[in-house]
Amino acid sequence: MKRKLAVLLAGTMVMASLVGCGGSDAASTETAAPAEETAEEAPAEEAAEEAPAEEAAGDTIKVGFAQVGHESDWRAANTQNYQDTFSAANGYELSFVDADNDNAVQLEAVRTFIQQEMDYICIAPIETAGWDTVLQEAQDAGIPVLIVDRSVDADPSLYETQIGCDMVLEGETAGNWLAEYLNGEAANILVIEGTVGASATLGRTEGFNKVAAEHSEWTILDSQSGDFTQAGGQEVMESFIKSYSDFNVVVCQNDNEAYGAMDAMDAAGITYGVDGDVIIISYDATHDGLQYTLDGKINCNVECNPLQAEFAADVIQKLEAGEAIDPVTVVVDQAFVAPGITSQYATTMTQEVLDGRAY
Ligand code: AHR
Repeated sequence: MKRKLAVLLAGTMVMASLVGCGGSDAASTETAAPAEETAEEAPAEEAAEEAPAEEAAGDTIKVGFAQVGHESDWRAANTQNYQDTFSAANGYELSFVDADNDNAVQLEAVRTFIQQEMDYICIAPIETAGWDTVLQEAQDAGIPVLIVDRSVDADPSLYETQIGCDMVLEGETAGNWLAEYLNGEAANILVIEGTVGASATLGRTEGFNKVAAEHSEWTILDSQSGDFTQAGGQEVMESFIKSYSDFNVVVCQNDNEAYGAMDAMDAAGITYGVDGDVIIISYDATHDGLQYTLDGKINCNVECNPLQAEFAADVIQKLEAGEAIDPVTVVVDQAFVAPGITSQYATTMTQEVLDGRAY
C-alpha cells in the first residue's frame, strides 16, 4: 500500500505540471508472451473471489483492465494486445473483465478492481458519460487509473492519463477523402454509427459532419447506430434499403458494420465499391477490412490502431519510477484506399501493405 500512495503522489505532482500538454509517448520494447499463459478472463464477481487480498510476490504489478466487450475484430485485437503486453513474463498480473458492452458490468468491474487493491486500473470506457463517482472512488483508494482507447467526459484530475486514437481526426480524414474523391459531385449519404454515447462514435460523427457542413452538394439522409457489430450493421443497412433508394455513399463507423452492410446490399442486389454504385467508407482498417479494401469493395478505410497496450505499459513503468507522464497520448492512425484510387489523405492498398498488417 505504501508503494501505491507513493505512485499516486508522483503521478499527481506530474499531472499538476503537465495539464494541457498533449503529445505522444514512447512505447515499451519489452518482449510479449502468449496471452493464454497469463491473462485472466472472468466476470467481475468471479475475479473478486479469485484475487488474493495481498499483493503478489516480488515486483509483480497488478493491473485490472475493464474492457468494452468483444463486439468487433478491432476489439479482439486490442484485447490480445493487452493480454500479450501485460503478461507474467513482463512482470504483470492482469485481471481482465469483458463488460460485453454493458455500462453496469463495466462499473462493477472497476469497483471490484478497487476492492482487490489493484496497483493500476485501465478502463476502455463504453460511453463517455457517468464516470466521476467511480473514478473518485479509485482515487480515494489510491489506485491510479488509465483511460484507454475511448475517452470520458469526467474531471481529468480523477485519472492519470488518456491513451487512444484521435476519433475526430478519423472522421475528418474520412470526410476529406470523400470530398477529394467526389470532386464536387453530389453525395446522398447514409451513416451507420457506432455505439451510442461512445467517444469513437461521437468523434467520428463530429469530424465527418464538420467536413460535410462545408459541402452543400452533400446530404446526410440518415444516421443510425449499428453498435459497432456486424449484425447491427446488417440490420441498419436493411432498414436503410427499405427507406431510401437514392443513396450513393454508406459510411460505416467500423469494419464489422461494413461487413454487415455489404451483406445487406448483396442481398438487395445493390453494387458497391470501386466498380459499384455505392461508395463505402469504413473505419478500423483491421486485416479483413483491408482485404475488402484491397479487393475494391471498401473504397476508403480509416485506421483506428488497436495496438495501444505498450503505451499504457510505458505510462505505468514511468509512474512506478516516479517519472513524468503525458496527460494525453494520441495513437497515430493512417487511412487506406482501394487500388486505382490515389489520395493525399490515404495510402493506396497493395498486397504488401496487407501482408505487413499485424492485426
Ligand atoms: O473504440 C474503438 C472502436 O470500438 C472501434 O472502431 C470499434 O471497432 C470498436 O468496437
